[in-house]
Amino acid sequence: MRKKALICGNWKLNHNLSQTKSMVEEVSQAIKNNELVEVVLAPVAPLLFAACDLAKNTSLKIAAQNVFYEQKGAFTGEWSVNHLTELGCSYAIVGHSERRQYFNDSDEGVGKKARACLDGNIKPIACLGETLEQRENGQVKKVLTRQLGAVLSQVKESDLENLVIAYEPVWAIGTSNTATSAQAQEAHSILRVLIADKFGPDRAESVHILYGGSVKWQNIKELMAQKDIDGALVGGASLTAESFLSIVEGSI
Ligand code: G3H
Repeated sequence: MRKKALICGNWKLNHNLSQTKSMVEEVSQAIKNNELVEVVLAPVAPLLFAACDLAKNTSLKIAAQNVFYEQKGAFTGEWSVNHLTELGCSYAIVGHSERRQYFNDSDEGVGKKARACLDGNIKPIACLGETLEQRENGQVKKVLTRQLGAVLSQVKESDLENLVIAYEPVWAIGTSNTATSAQAQEAHSILRVLIADKFGPDRAESVHILYGGSVKWQNIKELMAQKDIDGALVGGASLTAESFLSIVEGSI
């Protein structure tokens, strides 16, 4: 049986407090009878408290867009997994390509963030994916192996059902250049096999592998029809309730 689809909206640096509140209310209301899709929204960090408060007692889950791997100490500007747990977050995105590009998130750091999340009952959504240059140089498998390896080195077999991987080819993010469903499936299959090599094929099936990169209502059905695509990490098209909900609907 196919596992429950997971659709996460990553708002990046968008939406103020009133926009966040009204979208959390609208989306949570709209999905209240939907048991087929796990729906997640990731607002900016200062608004997580408000979002979690509004989403509690609903089936909508809230994700942080980032988290640090240490629990406390002299790390100005950071927050820990414990803070996310206290707020009522369920997920944290780690290693998004924008974090890797602008904030120097390393493979090793992403692995440590995933470990910290798993230790604190927060499900990590660990992002990886190649640049256009790497794709053109035939390095997709090499890049995915390196990036996923850093995450898997921190993961135990018992963690797998709480682990989410998001394949986001950098060239497809915010560009309208969605990967074709065949390109996405090929990459997801590489990732699934890498997980299976370490933990076995049955256990590899329990990991959600999301696709991200210009997902919209027009392409979600075809993407979700691929064997190894279990959901989507949605940026631009998650910014209005109408657009985001049409993707949630289309994922079933
Ligand atoms: O986290 C989301 C991804 O970066 C995709 O963004 O849907 O705007 O291409 P996008």
